[in-house]
Amino acid sequence: MELGLSGKSVLVTGASSGIGRATARLFADEGAKVALTYRGNKDGAQSAVAEIERAGGTAFATRYDLADPGSIRAAVEAVIDAYGGVDVLVANASPWSGPRMPFRAFEDVPVEEWQGQLRAELEGAFHTVQAVLPSMKSRGWGRFVFVSAAVVRSGIPGEEAFIASKAGLQAFSRTLAREAGEDGVLSVVVSPGTTATDTMRRALPAGMIEKMAASAATGRLTTPEEVARAIVFLGSAANGNITGTIVEVTGGT
Ligand SMILES: NC(=O)c1ccc[n+]([C@@H]2O[C@H](COP(=O)([O-])OP(=O)(O)OC[C@H]3O[C@@H](n4cnc5c(N)ncnc54)[C@H](O)[C@@H]3O)[C@@H](O)[C@H]2O)c1
Repeated sequence: MELGLSGKSVLVTGASSGIGRATARLFADEGAKVALTYRGNKDGAQSAVAEIERAGGTAFATRYDLADPGSIRAAVEAVIDAYGGVDVLVANASPWSGPRMPFRAFEDVPVEEWQGQLRAELEGAFHTVQAVLPSMKSRGWGRFVFVSAAVVRSGIPGEEAFIASKAGLQAFSRTLAREAGEDGVLSVVVSPGTTATDTMRRALPAGMIEKMAASAATGRLTTPEEVARAIVFLGSAANGNITGTIVEVTGGT
């Protein structure tokens, strides 16, 4: 199947590690020109760019902080300057680094954490989409892929802020699909289940990782590359009319 990604401009946020890094690599392998964002881990982003270039792809890294609207606008402008526009946005970056173990009581969650999470995840998406959408509308083609979380269905004690922000992204994407559909712009959410990234492995104690794996129908965790493959398909021209919906990559949980 032809994905139609050759020469497309793709912005992947939070791409110095994990799912974002695997996604950037896969888009580049399909011939897209890729911009990877990092916040603190510049070395990780630069090593991802070097890996893509070694494989014959086109990529650069730019700083982007969900909590800093100025850095968001600057990152999007850097992509437009370099590649002439943004065809695909993968909104993958997230300040959340896994559940606090043991689980906390909601009463112990500081309001600053709630505000910080919603501000980064939802307001960050607001600013990023406002910066990117005119470029897509003017070309009459675009794809948004928001990375949410399958655990929105069940919740995690003490992680109400994370769950609420990821659920908010789902509603935002559904509405964006209505807003921009007639301009040729599709908007989809990919919701991973527990995925074997370094961040998740650091967050979960060994026994918990095995429990999560056993709870999937496939009996194992999802890999970052498996999530990336869903993102790349949904962000491609091969996705002709899938929009306003959620695709879970969980192994069946
Ligand atoms: N790994 C899982 O089990 C899992 C499950 C469900 C959802 N997710 C979601 O998948 C996405 C990727 O997660 P991952 O597991 O690859 O983790 P990761 O830590 O490798 O990736 C998160 C990225 O976001 C960046 N980031 C953090 N705070 C930021 C900020 N304020 N501004 C800009 N960038 C920031 C980090 O630098 C990092 O590159 C996240 O949205 C996460 O919530 C992951």
